[in-house]
Amino acid sequence: MTVLKALNWATDYLKEHRVENPRLNAELLLARSMRLSREELYIRLHDQAMEEEIKTLEGLIRRRGSGEPLQYILGHQEFWSIDLKVDPRVLIPRPETERLVEEALSILAKISSKKIPSVLELGTGSGAIAISLAKEVKNIFLVATDLSGDALMVAKDNARQAGVSDKIGFVKGDLLNPFHPGETFDLILSNPPYISDSEIKDLSREVRNHEPLIALKGGKDGLEFYRKLISQTSSYLKRGGRLLLEVGNNQAPSISEMIEAEGGFERPERVKDLSGTERVVKAQKVDSRKWRVEKN
Ligand SMILES: C[S@@+](CC[C@H](N)C(=O)[O-])C[C@H]1O[C@@H](n2cnc3c(N)ncnc32)[C@H](O)[C@@H]1O
Repeated sequence: MTVLKALNWATDYLKEHRVENPRLNAELLLARSMRLSREELYIRLHDQAMEEEIKTLEGLIRRRGSGEPLQYILGHQEFWSIDLKVDPRVLIPRPETERLVEEALSILAKISSKKIPSVLELGTGSGAIAISLAKEVKNIFLVATDLSGDALMVAKDNARQAGVSDKIGFVKGDLLNPFHPGETFDLILSNPPYISDSEIKDLSREVRNHEPLIALKGGKDGLEFYRKLISQTSSYLKRGGRLLLEVGNNQAPSISEMIEAEGGFERPERVKDLSGTERVVKAQKVDSRKWRVEKN
């Protein structure tokens, strides 16, 4: 069978099995089966594929056709131009989370001219956010946590691969439980699980059946983690420290209200992603010293 014929078979199979972008998926999986880049695949379209390669392709295409995400089959996903290893132990990092990284970097740029910033990321998954910050900020002290020990293993591997292991401490635990009040950070950020119970069933089969539920389920209304986090965070932030949260669709107003009701923060701000959806809520802890100086 020629490479082109194999590619057409794979594309048709994926189309029949309701996979989005069937041609692109087929090309990437065929390239993987033949241990070629996509560019090399195009050059070889009229060559004969080996029997072994077709057998491997069939296996991969059937997995994709049954709904397994492409990234888990290929074993990696790019985030912030960093190649991250992903498997079913971790959520596949999403492009919209890069908005959170951008906001974090603009906060860190202001702090890092004065001192080494200390940052806590809660629920690190593949390590995408913490690793991006470690790559971008030369001097930084980062702690990244997760409740899932399996996820932390992937995150540690990714940090090693990205050459930033020495900048990130990984800690297993439930939200802020591993820390003592008084152990404070300049920035606490998180992309917590935020899918409500009723929305879980509407997720695509790729997400619902393959990504870790612990990374998705945000309780009855999707806001459980925000409630816990917002009620605990202030004791772990330095004066003037920042809280930065990725939020689900339409959740930003409720989360801003929660922060205002909690008190101790300046008025929260809502930041949109590229699609115009409010994606990040940021708040600064009141600096009572500054307030006193301004008042006098
Ligand atoms: C939405 S995923 C985000 C993963 C990664 N930060 C990203 O943006 O791609 C949420 C992460 O929080 C972790 N998690 C869930 N419950 C947690 C808890 N109680 N404490 C700490 N981490 C938790 C999950 O294991 C998962 O890795």
